[in-house]
Amino acid sequence: MHKITQVMPYISVSELELLKTSVEQKWLTEGPYSEKFIDYIKTFTKSKYAVLAPNGTLGLFLALLALDLPKDSEIIIPSFTFYASATAAIFAGLKPVFADVDENTFNIDVLKLESLITNKTSAIMPVHIYGHSANMSNIIELADKYNLKIIEDAAQGYGVTYKKNHVGTFGDISMISFFADKTITMGEGAVVLTQNETLYKKLKLLRNQGRFHSGTFIHQELGMNFRVTDMQAAVGFAQVNKFQNILNQKLKNYEAFKIGLADIGDLKFISIEKDSTFVPFRFFIKTRYKIELMKFLENNGIQTRSFFYPMHLQPKLKQYCNYKIPITEKLYNQGICLPLHFYLKQDEIMYIINSIVKFFDKVKVRTDINYSAKNLSCQHH
Ligand SMILES: Cc1ncc(COP(=O)(O)O)c(C=O)c1O
Repeated sequence: MHKITQVMPYISVSELELLKTSVEQKWLTEGPYSEKFIDYIKTFTKSKYAVLAPNGTLGLFLALLALDLPKDSEIIIPSFTFYASATAAIFAGLKPVFADVDENTFNIDVLKLESLITNKTSAIMPVHIYGHSANMSNIIELADKYNLKIIEDAAQGYGVTYKKNHVGTFGDISMISFFADKTITMGEGAVVLTQNETLYKKLKLLRNQGRFHSGTFIHQELGMNFRVTDMQAAVGFAQVNKFQNILNQKLKNYEAFKIGLADIGDLKFISIEKDSTFVPFRFFIKTRYKIELMKFLENNGIQTRSFFYPMHLQPKLKQYCNYKIPITEKLYNQGICLPLHFYLKQDEIMYIINSIVKFFDKVKVRTDINYSAKNLSCQHH
């Protein structure tokens, strides 16, 4: 059997067609498709303003430059996130303060967040992890109470709504990534959203060499180049039409896993934040046998990925933390991502489920772990 990969973007003739048109138009830097794509994103997310960025990492960096927070002030970031959330803050001259997450939703634990706020805190960066929203109501309440800015890392949040509003439209500024493993993709790319006109103007200047329009050589502000190509935007513009299909298929696959893996071994799943929709990023499982199960699945042709390694333990980030962040560590110790993409077939899902069932049968034999009979009984034998 071929290897079952973690991700595979849903690409068809529509991307090729728009890409061809883009090249034929001979306008390769930001142009007609970039405009169409941004207009679509603004309508879809109901965001007042949006600009493109070359990728999510630089999108976060650009957003933080626009926010212009006091140098060396503290920004609270969940330790359970992708590296870029923290590094963007450091490169923007801020000090990351890592917060723990909720054991069930994997999103920032708002109850523990307040104790991390000091008179140096300038911002909170909630990360909408794995395809659902953080608890934005409580985060906004805290930010209001302590006068903090909110920058939402919605890299994984395309299509996710919280209380009927798209993630990324709650904070002062936010980023959604269109990297190749995201729900829809432009290969590399991202958007930065804001509802604030002043921030929007700053974003425009920062991303385009300190001027509002190309073709002029008087630059009223300091700025850099955060533009993308129109070819990427053409691919993104073709992708947005596929969102509902991709979502339906992913939800169907997610449900098949959930039913098939219910009561198997010690497996636990993610709980979706109340008031949030879910655009599944992968299928997530937690088990005390992470290492062994990953090895077993890889040996059986199933590509796995670990949950994130905690930010507060990263070689270059641990200097920012001198306290324990236990749930994030536990998630790393137990978490595995299973493949969940548009092309995954039902028989592949059954194969993955059966492989996991087989693994837990072996674990029982090998180590005589005292599972309850209920946990081991399943419909797949
Ligand atoms: C939570 C999170 N933040 C930031 C990023 C960075 O985005 P990009 O890969 O587009 O640079 C990613 C991932 O790709 C992510 O998952």
